[in-house]
Amino acid sequence: MSQVQKPISPAVEILMTGKSLPIVRNGLAAAFTVHKLWEADDGKAFIKAHAAQIRGMASTGGHGPVGAEIFDQLPNLEFVANFGVGYDNVDAAEAARRGIIVSNTPDVLTEEVADLALGLLLATVRDIVRAENFLRQGQWPKAAFPLSPTLRQRKVGILGLGRIGKAVATRCAAFGLPIAYHGRSRQSDVDYAYHDTAVGLAKAVDLLIVVTPGGAGTQNMVDAEVLEALGPDGILINVSRGSVVDEAALIDALKRKRILAAGLDVFNNEPNINPEFLTLDNATLLPHIGSGSVYTRDAMGQLVVDNLVSWFSGKGPVTPVPESAKVVAAKARG
Ligand code: 8YV
Repeated sequence: MSQVQKPISPAVEILMTGKSLPIVRNGLAAAFTVHKLWEADDGKAFIKAHAAQIRGMASTGGHGPVGAEIFDQLPNLEFVANFGVGYDNVDAAEAARRGIIVSNTPDVLTEEVADLALGLLLATVRDIVRAENFLRQGQWPKAAFPLSPTLRQRKVGILGLGRIGKAVATRCAAFGLPIAYHGRSRQSDVDYAYHDTAVGLAKAVDLLIVVTPGGAGTQNMVDAEVLEALGPDGILINVSRGSVVDEAALIDALKRKRILAAGLDVFNNEPNINPEFLTLDNATLLPHIGSGSVYTRDAMGQLVVDNLVSWFSGKGPVTPVPESAKVVAAKARG
């Protein structure tokens, strides 16, 4: 990983929407003139004051949507580098219509998120968090911790067999578990069983792991019907986006024991999640830490910097999102 970039030209001006990591702040400051939106008292006035000069943007989920409204204000915007493999916070289709390229941070977080998915899965199935609390609360000398459900004899369903889905599947295979999946299409490079609907997959398995991207196409894909199909011994793990799961239906299913348990790293309205989740003792809840190691977040941050530096050095984007493919090709043709 290159650490400090050579200045391209301080004449290239970048808008940073959120504070992000030192590796992003320092990398961008070494290469560009950076406008720090999060430090501005009046964001709108701040953008207006610099709008004509801004050609690049570094964005992160959780700092508001990046779409038509902000694009309207930035007439010379060429490139949005998003921190995160998921870019449901950016309207990449609208960006493409306006000739703006969007990049994300794929690959560098794949193994980290897959590791966390397996950790969350084990914690959920074997009740690890409650077992630790039991010990810390001095309960052990009084009684043995209750026996837990098991991973043995389970069938795993992966919802979304992309890069992270495949890394999760490889790990589950190493645990000796049979694997099936549902996604937009059957994939020729794997021999896991394919189901052409989420309900079909949920019916066939008793451990459903959600790894599909967020956004309009997957909104509430795991709904009451899917949860019902997963059944009373079923376990749901979600490490993608809260939006993929109908949370009201999930809370209801957990309360009424229509499924056995859930392990969730992601929620709607993070970090202010639905407080009903906190009342459920059959849910294991994490504060969106899938990619959250120092090592991996730094690799993601460096990729944000590398995309902007590469673009403004005339070398093209490093990791453009699929929606930007036509724009990249058109710009390459000149
Ligand atoms: C990011 C994530 O850190 O990469 C993603 O899509 O979900 C996280 O790991 C987060 O989205 C940054 O906002």
